[in-house]
Amino acid sequence: MVPVHAACVLMSLVPLLVLGVPPIWTQPEQVHLSYPGEPGSMGVTWTTLNKTESVVEYGLMGGRLFDMSAKGDATLFVDSGEEKRKMYIHRVTLTGLKPAATYVYHCGSDEGWSDVFFFTALNDSASFSPRFALYGDLGNENPQSLARLQKETQLGMYDVILHIGDFAYDMHEDNARIGDEFMRQIQSIAAYVPYMTCPGNHEST
Ligand SMILES: [Fe+2]
Repeated sequence: MVPVHAACVLMSLVPLLVLGVPPIWTQPEQVHLSYPGEPGSMGVTWTTLNKTESVVEYGLMGGRLFDMSAKGDATLFVDSGEEKRKMYIHRVTLTGLKPAATYVYHCGSDEGWSDVFFFTALNDSASFSPRFALYGDLGNENPQSLARLQKETQLGMYDVILHIGDFAYDMHEDNARIGDEFMRQIQSIAAYVPYMTCPGNHEST
């Protein structure tokens, strides 16, 4: 048996660092939900920097965790800024959800899973009165409503969020890094409740 020294392990990494081998970014980020418009469905969207499978594992809250799974697709997104940054946008649609039931899920692939989140499937009762949070103009700096929205969403106070334009200020700035940071910042809302949007004047080109 040859003892393995920490220094030897570190030295074996040096050539990789010197050669500048790029790291493999397969960790999901920017997780968000949307309603696809079909009863009993929910859309899950996220981003990875390298290509991976697109899988959501889920189950009823209080039941067996992740006893169901659904697959989707990833599309390559190339930012139009001068760096031409590339990332993969993953989309999975869950179907056959029980109305008003709460599900626990994570998304990603065997190369990396997100945190665990939960959502409630849309209620189909005739007496259902959905609760909306509706706003525009939410950016990365000085987002005065963010903490309240995070807490109230996680408390289950809203069925849908409507963000009616003007995101991040602006999504495309700094080769879209401002947009990426915004999407990470709102994950604590948008991974729990459908986050529906429309363009504002800052999104017009
Ligand atoms: Fe605005």
